[in-house]
Amino acid sequence: MRIIQVTDSHVVPEGRLWKQRVDTAATLARAVSRINTLGADLVVHTGDLCDGGDAASTARAATILAGLRAPLRLVPGNHDRRALLRAHFPGAGFAAGGAGEARLDWTHDAEGLRIIGLDTIIPGATGGRLDDDGAAFLEGALAGPGGAGGPSLLFCHHPPCAMGLPFMDAWPFEGAARAEAILSAAPPLRVACGHVHADVDRTLAGTVIGACPPLSPQIPHDAAPDRALGFLLEAPALRIFDWDADLGLRVRTMPVDHGPGPFFWFDPTAG
Ligand SMILES: [Fe+2]
Ligand SMILES: [Fe+2]
Repeated sequence: MRIIQVTDSHVVPEGRLWKQRVDTAATLARAVSRINTLGADLVVHTGDLCDGGDAASTARAATILAGLRAPLRLVPGNHDRRALLRAHFPGAGFAAGGAGEARLDWTHDAEGLRIIGLDTIIPGATGGRLDDDGAAFLEGALAGPGGAGGPSLLFCHHPPCAMGLPFMDAWPFEGAARAEAILSAAPPLRVACGHVHADVDRTLAGTVIGACPPLSPQIPHDAAPDRALGFLLEAPALRIFDWDADLGLRVRTMPVDHGPGPFFWFDPTAG
């Protein structure tokens, strides 16, 4: 089974560029094309689909993501609005019973793997949190189908801990100690998140907290709150999670855009 993660597409309304410089919608469209070529059983967008939390941007992102051949799941980022995601992604499988600004958590069981989407946003704020409702959902989800345990893979927007990135760590995750305790009790194979606009993984609570590089510009690793924030226009990337019972979980980071090649390792015309 192949799951592909994309994150932080930061789509803006038609006719505009992100920071007057970057066509983020075009990057998301290229990511959709690349995912369709790679093949996926499930695609997970880990939030900040759009930049302004507005209906026009959310609708534009939804139109682009409708080009995916694989089913799409998503969790909200701090730039998104829950009610807009719920309205524009009716097939995204959010937990039943919610409406409007209610939480957007979900679980998806396939091929012996429990895949979890955890909503970590605080509406109107940049940082994330695990509150009472989130903790109750997470504990139940990590317990596995019917409480039977088993391997799991957790997707969320905010890393539930500091990532060693001074600029982003300035917004601490609320409930980090509780999150660490819950993850320690039933560690998922990996926590796959976004938000920090950097390619960085760290260990925590017997698992790996892995931040997928963004589809939009990157924040330099040494950016700090007391310095002017610049952004980088390096290659946008996605993450591929291949799962089977024999080899377990394999994770690869891949650029959205093909480089040149492939070329022959050896010249077939040489004697
Ligand atoms: Fe973001
Ligand atoms: Fe974010």
